[in-house]
Amino acid sequence: MTRILVTGGAGFIGSSFVHHVVENTDAHVTVLDKLTYAGNRASLAGIPADRLRFVRGDITDVDLVDSLFTEVDSVVHYAAESHNDNSLHDPRPFLETNIVGTYTLLEAARHHNRRFHHISTDEVYGDLELDDPDRFTESTPYAPSSPYSSTKAGSDLLVRAWVRSFGVHATISNCSNNYGPYQHVEKFIPRQITNVIRGIRPKLYGAGHNVRDWIHADDHSSAVLTILDKGTIGETYLIGADGEKDNKSVMELILTEMGQPMDAYDHVIDRAGHDLRYAIDSTKLRTELGWAPKYGNFEAGLASTIDWYKKNEAWWAPSKDATEAFYAGRGQ
Ligand code: NAD
Ligand code: DAU
Repeated sequence: MTRILVTGGAGFIGSSFVHHVVENTDAHVTVLDKLTYAGNRASLAGIPADRLRFVRGDITDVDLVDSLFTEVDSVVHYAAESHNDNSLHDPRPFLETNIVGTYTLLEAARHHNRRFHHISTDEVYGDLELDDPDRFTESTPYAPSSPYSSTKAGSDLLVRAWVRSFGVHATISNCSNNYGPYQHVEKFIPRQITNVIRGIRPKLYGAGHNVRDWIHADDHSSAVLTILDKGTIGETYLIGADGEKDNKSVMELILTEMGQPMDAYDHVIDRAGHDLRYAIDSTKLRTELGWAPKYGNFEAGLASTIDWYKKNEAWWAPSKDATEAFYAGRGQ
């Protein structure tokens, strides 16, 4: 039986990947997760005990990481501080987890000669103009804007260096904005859905012209498993599902789907350094590895995501008040 270590497996996308692996392979999964404010053990509910081992711990813990690497065949690295607004408030945990944590894992991959897949973001490429006909490709130069994206860019560069200098068997994927169940209420889509459920007016940063390229988390997971199985060592793959939408349109879709007037939201202070547009060209992944997304219809995926948040208030309610208090303190 293949054994996979998934870091950050109690987070939004990591837990989606763990469910995907358990449902589509016979692999055994070990999750290493610190359970920060963003981690939730309940996101892994329903997985049979003989398929999953959960270890609460920090990816910067050298001894723990070292011992877990001896027990597995491959490692998929999701653990990160993931929220741009938090990185503008307090960058330090981003340096520690995203840079030092990735370094710690790479050293273990080197010493134990383990297959390593690094999860990253399209934000490492900076942003595009709204009318730019180009999209990000694997050869777009790195130009991150925020403390979050600069630490992710730094972690990608560490992976590349460990491949070239030490022959580590690693691949990298850079994905666009994910949506779906189990996403923390600090993020745009779940924040607005849960605001409507709670009777709070949704909040749009600035004018809302910023564009994000949405992909369902399950499609991200199937792409990562494809790369783990068939990717070429040393290569980077961009993951995206042609889902460009501006924030104002997404806000209006959420409000309409939830039976609210389309203008029932507030404009609030814009994010500092707010990236204008992300757009992914995933031709390499599709043509070389034969991957394709399953969620073609964003509106349908959004409707089922809204339904999930309506039915799973117990999952998100414990985080809601603290999240809104944080935003209120920032005028957002
Ligand atoms: P998340 O914030 O929901 O989850 C992060 C998880 O990592 C949590 O379970 C947290 O407890 C864990 N964690 C944090 N610090 C840790 C540490 N030091 N040691 C062990 N565990 C730790 O994030 P997410 O949205 O699921 O993102 C996961 C990964 O995917 C990140 O690397 C992120 O950069 C990348 N990514 C996210 C998106 C997106 O749209 N959410 C898109 C592309 C790439
Ligand atoms: O592109 C991939 C990235 O997508 C990942 O690397 C990050 O981990 C993930 O958080 C996400 O980053 P964004 O900053 O794009 O996502 P967020 O959900 O924070 O915001 C999406 C857009 O919505 C962005 O333009 C800011 C805006 N926004 C956000 C919030 C929380 C609002 O207008 N109102 C809000 O309340």
